Amino acid sequence: MAPERTTQTLVVLGAQWGDEGKGKIVDLLTDRADVVVRFQGGHNAGHTLVVKGEKTVLHLLPSGILHAGVECVIGNGVVLSMADLLKEIHELEAKGVELRGRVRISSACPLILPSHIALDQARESTLRGGDKIGTTGRGIGPAYEDKVGRRAIHLGLTRDEAKFSARLEELFDYHNFLLANYYRVATVELAKARDELLKQAGELRPMIADTVEILHGHRRAGRRILFEGAQGALLDIDHGTYPFVTSSNTTSGGAATGSGFGPLYLDRVLGVAKAYATRVGEGPFPTELFDATGEHMAKAGNEFGSTTGRGRRCGWFDAAAVRLATQINSISGLCLTKLDVLDGMESLKVCVGYRDAPSNSPAVESYGRLRPLYEELPGWRESTRGVRSVEALPANARAYIAFIEETVGAPVEIISTSPDREDTIVLRPPFG
Ligand code: IMP
Repeated sequence: MAPERTTQTLVVLGAQWGDEGKGKIVDLLTDRADVVVRFQGGHNAGHTLVVKGEKTVLHLLPSGILHAGVECVIGNGVVLSMADLLKEIHELEAKGVELRGRVRISSACPLILPSHIALDQARESTLRGGDKIGTTGRGIGPAYEDKVGRRAIHLGLTRDEAKFSARLEELFDYHNFLLANYYRVATVELAKARDELLKQAGELRPMIADTVEILHGHRRAGRRILFEGAQGALLDIDHGTYPFVTSSNTTSGGAATGSGFGPLYLDRVLGVAKAYATRVGEGPFPTELFDATGEHMAKAGNEFGSTTGRGRRCGWFDAAAVRLATQINSISGLCLTKLDVLDGMESLKVCVGYRDAPSNSPAVESYGRLRPLYEELPGWRESTRGVRSVEALPANARAYIAFIEETVGAPVEIISTSPDREDTIVLRPPFG
């Protein structure tokens, strides 16, 4: 048998609607990585890490930041709020985390401006009930619109104050026109914003870099690189439940475009999925539960957004949706999180397809109308919280995992049994 290709580069991404517990997994895998890269999204993400009982929530910095010596790269695909990045940096420094020389930010990151946030919030407030997206209100959508509209201001431009100021004035003219005349809300003051942005850019300047060059240097040197996805596959702008999606490519292709690392250099893709399903914000969710079981999942799983504090909707594991995620991301292995939340349930349902649907995969346009087809499996009474070996899991929990592997079509390689870094079962080491 030919020897298996070794893993030097690994993409870790959400296989559902975000909040799958990627932060913990990336943090755990960072033990084995030299570099961690964020490649899309912005500070709409909230990656919660719990290390020895202490909780840290990261929004923009890659989750490798708590490991001394690991380089953290923010790639060109990320839309950057300099104010929020600095806030995060200052908070970590106050906790004693050494960041100097470890954070590199692409000069090509489009900036999120205060006017993008105003536009995001104005738009959401004018949308009617069922049309609301339920965005995080962080300016993500409008910032990506400007990127695609070729109007965005890149971080690197802040190094030329005159050019930056001229472009900012132009863009503010446009944004303020929309705010005043279309949305009929307050405009954003240019002079104040410019001064603040230039001050922030000055502080970030030593971190601004040509990250494409840096990443390929690491690749040639044989260093291990981990690409950390934000949100989840079903929130992808192309493949998610459009229009109830985020504005970036959350899928593995985004790791290549959002960092300048060609797809053939990506060795493996780890898809992170909760042992059930959640969604925050609006949009279709075929397996959503509106009963005591859903309430139990929300309570046991502490399902509140780490960025917005909003309660998350809960439901059964949708294997058909995760199967789709497996295909569009070329997921080579799964990481199943929050298994312990299902402890003590009499029986468990798994969605294996959809009633009256043309195919077993959730086609984007019909997602809202899908009615799940369930298989029911017996639950387990024992606690799986903190279990660290597969042999110590109840037989029914092992059968549940095997059923998911078979239905989704990907092996489960990591199982997480509590928020703590140590409470993890690694069946196949992701690197090496
Ligand atoms: P936006 O990314 O703020 O534009 O929000 C678009 C949709 O993506 C909304 O439904 C948000 O709730 C959802 N969303 C954005 N970021 C996250 C995340 O990190 N986790 C889960 N959902 C998210």
